[in-house]
Amino acid sequence: MLNDLNLKRVDEIIKRYPEPRAALLPALWIAQEQEGYISLKMMKFLGNLLSLSYSHILGVVSFYTMFHEKPLGRFHIEVCTNISCMLKGSDKILSTVEKHCGIKCGETSEDGKFTITEVECMGACSGAPMIAVGEDYFENLNEDKTLKLLNNFSNVTKLNGNDDVDDETEFGGGD
Ligand code: FES
Repeated sequence: MLNDLNLKRVDEIIKRYPEPRAALLPALWIAQEQEGYISLKMMKFLGNLLSLSYSHILGVVSFYTMFHEKPLGRFHIEVCTNISCMLKGSDKILSTVEKHCGIKCGETSEDGKFTITEVECMGACSGAPMIAVGEDYFENLNEDKTLKLLNNFSNVTKLNGNDDVDDETEFGGGD
């Protein structure tokens, strides 16, 4: 269930709408912020709170790739393989990521460090091919740049610490 602070946040959001159910997306986002994913238990809790059925909530959670039904690795690597990225070699980026992490798309590494997901267009086509790691976008990638980036993530030793990734490489758009 939501902790007291987050329950208060969701209550505030509910007040902005004529029907509690309209607060579902922000409520899911807050729930995911709290737990890292949206568990079955949390879906049932939100269902009671927003007067929605569990199946409705499951439908929403499974529709949007930004919501996760399972815990993710410390670094969630989302590889875009949609048209612009595909034309610019996303297949090579994806296989580089899979090889480096030792897992396939949809899997989480045994040490809990990496999860890889294949995603549709993330709205950064001008920087194709690109990946997202958490909330950061890395664009104009090739295999070498991707490997360098992944090595930086691999060098982070604490899985739940606040240590920053040493990212000295320019990966932003317009590269
Ligand atoms: S196709 Fe990859 S960001 Fe648009």
